[in-house]
Amino acid sequence: MIQVGILGLGTVGTGVVELIEKNNDIIEKRIGDRINIKKVLVKNINKRRSSLVEGKITDKFEDILEDEDISVVAEVMGGEEPALTYIRELLSRGKHVVTANKEVISEHGNELLKISAEKDVNLLFEASVGGGIPIIMPMKQCLSANDIVKVMGILNGTTNYILSQMTEKSESFSEALEKAQLEGCAESDPTNDVKGFDAARKLAILSSIAFNTRITPEQVYTEGIDNISHLDIEYARELGAVIKLIALGKKNENNIEVSVTPVLLKKDHPLASVSGTFNAIMVEGDAVGPVMFYGLGAGKMPTASAVVADIMEAVRNKNGSKLHCTCYNRLNVMDSGESVT
Ligand code: HSE
Repeated sequence: MIQVGILGLGTVGTGVVELIEKNNDIIEKRIGDRINIKKVLVKNINKRRSSLVEGKITDKFEDILEDEDISVVAEVMGGEEPALTYIRELLSRGKHVVTANKEVISEHGNELLKISAEKDVNLLFEASVGGGIPIIMPMKQCLSANDIVKVMGILNGTTNYILSQMTEKSESFSEALEKAQLEGCAESDPTNDVKGFDAARKLAILSSIAFNTRITPEQVYTEGIDNISHLDIEYARELGAVIKLIALGKKNENNIEVSVTPVLLKKDHPLASVSGTFNAIMVEGDAVGPVMFYGLGAGKMPTASAVVADIMEAVRNKNGSKLHCTCYNRLNVMDSGESVT
């Protein structure tokens, strides 16, 4: 039995617990062992919880850190702190960590991957970009023989939902934002979504992997959708186009361009028909050509799908062939002779 700790029991944490319960037979067939959730860290131990976590709840991080049986910990609490400190301590104790945390990975992935390499454990973060869409692992493994020249996508479900509602249902920005919050995919502070910061973090993670260098969210030129008016949507329509918040990472001869901006896309562009909370990512490699990944970029079960798969992967790799992501091991983008614009 694989003993797992979970940090956080919000939407994604609950999804992880439910998915393991539902699919443990399948998990066992695939990795030869069942998963047991041993402890779950929550802020409020007095809150009523599902019977699936009865007797497992704690509000003390040390209960998980110091439990020698727990070999893998899923961090699904979100936010930079205390998640960063917890991940650092867990890796230093020799535990595998899987995380959905784009703030932590985009800003501190480098440091954390160094610790994981030193301690010979895995740090996996498939759920940090694109929710349930497989993108990190395909880029690290399946596309690793390619010189990747471009990554382009819709990486934020909330803004895509807002733009889709404004285009398809003629809703105002604020009406659409309110509905997006009800859909449950918006960040606790929707500023991060509408101003493009969430997409910039995800693009920084993807571009770091794609271009084997270190790209931080601060290096991504970022414009949100908060200034898009109904008039802009109408002009786009007249031009046979739609407005999408596009994250673009592009390798030029002497530099790498990284940006998140609202873009006019002709209606026949593959990303133009990506509607609602869906995300899509196009990756272009010199050998494979263009490939596209599409699916739900947020939500309880899609995100849990990626987190649980990472738990399984961490254990599959426990006897070697770890999945370290060397792209984050370069500390400074300028070291590579490339510049980011
Ligand atoms: N707020 C994010 C989004 C959630 O709307 O895509 C998933 O990272």
